[in-house]
Amino acid sequence: MPDSPDPIRSPEMNRELWENVSGDYSRRVLSVFENDKKGKVAKCIKAFAETHPQASAADLGCGIGQFTPTLARSFETVVACDLSAGGVQATRRHCSDFSNVEFLRLDLSEDPMPFAPVDFALCVNVLIMPILDERLRAWRCVTNQVSSGGSLLLVVPSLESIQMDLIQRVDGYIDLGHSCEEALRAGQSSRATASDLQQGIHRLDGLPTKHYFAAELEYLLESHEFDIEEMQKIEYKSSQHVDSWDWLVRAVRR
Ligand SMILES: C[S@@+](CC[C@H](N)C(=O)[O-])C[C@H]1O[C@@H](n2cnc3c(N)ncnc32)[C@H](O)[C@@H]1O
Repeated sequence: MPDSPDPIRSPEMNRELWENVSGDYSRRVLSVFENDKKGKVAKCIKAFAETHPQASAADLGCGIGQFTPTLARSFETVVACDLSAGGVQATRRHCSDFSNVEFLRLDLSEDPMPFAPVDFALCVNVLIMPILDERLRAWRCVTNQVSSGGSLLLVVPSLESIQMDLIQRVDGYIDLGHSCEEALRAGQSSRATASDLQQGIHRLDGLPTKHYFAAELEYLLESHEFDIEEMQKIEYKSSQHVDSWDWLVRAVRR
């Protein structure tokens, strides 16, 4: 994604951004669906569905609906929702063979529980908004959408991964003969504010994106009354992202 000229500093800008992205999705964002090297997300979905026949599911922030048909095949009912009208429309097209999917255009940071909680919620690279207030409200909504005893399958960008990338980038400049000072300067993003760095907001595909430490995910899920069942790295096939990973977490609501 080309560097966006304006940082996202309001929910309106977030909405406009994702509306634009939905029209050019495959070029502008890394598709986890297409690039998950070991197919871990699909495996987790199937493993849950096999042991929970007749369960309900939701694709929270479904994008253009790449994962939604997998959910529709595996669960009795599915709710697919997204902020972007174009995204919801594309999801509808992807799911034209299924009659068990409900499509909703909604803002996860607006309503703390827009529909009835489900047994299984998928939320892939959605809780990444750089604005703290919006992100906290979206966390509340996403976790509320999981019924007690139900599972959340969450994918988020890894802060460990991007820190490693930055460290290696600085090392690379030093190897090329630059001074430490020059290497540090070249490795820094000129647009990141102190609070961005403190909050783990780094540019990903040109967009300011919240990244998470594993320990932070443990803390956040615990505070939303979830027990983590597994946390692992998702690695990608895409040559641009081959050395980076996201966190995949499967957690059960108490
Ligand atoms: C990186 S895309 C991921 C899409 C999809 N989960 C996937 O894996 O293909 C992030 C999605 O989150 C949606 N999104 C961002 N903020 C949102 C919000 N506040 N409420 C609902 N959806 C949101 C965007 O519209 C976008 O479709």
